[in-house]
Amino acid sequence: MSQRKKLRELPALQGPLPRFDTDAVPAEPVALFERWLDEAIAAGVPEPHAMTVSTVDAGGYPDARVVILKDVDASGWAFASSRSSAKGAELAHRPWAALTFYWPLQGRQVRVRGPVITGTAEQSAADFLARHPHSRAVVFSGPQSQPLPSRETFERALIEAQRRVAEEPDLVAPEWTVYTVQADQVEFWQGHPHRMHTRLRYRRRADGLWERELLWP
Ligand SMILES: Cc1cc2nc3c(=O)[nH]c(=O)nc-3n(C[C@H](O)[C@H](O)[C@H](O)COP(=O)(O)O)c2cc1C
Repeated sequence: MSQRKKLRELPALQGPLPRFDTDAVPAEPVALFERWLDEAIAAGVPEPHAMTVSTVDAGGYPDARVVILKDVDASGWAFASSRSSAKGAELAHRPWAALTFYWPLQGRQVRVRGPVITGTAEQSAADFLARHPHSRAVVFSGPQSQPLPSRETFERALIEAQRRVAEEPDLVAPEWTVYTVQADQVEFWQGHPHRMHTRLRYRRRADGLWERELLWP
């Protein structure tokens, strides 16, 4: 079977999918995001806290990757990564990002856009120390996203890093950074099996309050 035919036959947004009553939503998007996240967790969506983070480099060339959502509250959507990574360099040049969540069991997508704030050293250290020792050792092993000469180079560096983490459990990697996307736009997208999707976008006004509008599917 051709790839085209195989892909065409794969189902998407089959349903049954929930109805989205856009008249019964909170005045600001974080509360609705938390409601949808709780529903994704309750429905058993695998890794519902995984999200795609999109950035652009200094030349405007886009980039995207999946990371884990670490926190969400009125200050924004937080994730953590190494400042030495590609995304770290991109955010240093252009501190804006877009986040995309997809929860297939409910046919729901959430899109978040906004400026990115770099966390304090204390916030980043707290996140780092909450990570499993294996994950901390990987950060110490070498600079994320830089070219790696061989798998053996990584494995040798990892053994040394694991030894350091075991000897100094409070050691913090200085490049580890919490980034928070301070949303100025959040779109909630509820898929529909017949493609009559419902789209609701929140936009932050200059006075800090949020306005809402429906979008054509
Ligand atoms: C489910 C999942 C979760 C991930 N979580 C993180 C994370 O929290 N932080 C991180 O730096 N990379 C995470 N990664 C790896 C990133 O996708 C990416 O490979 C890495 O951050 C380097 O990206 P960059 O070169 O664009 O900076 C995760 C990948 C997957 C598939």
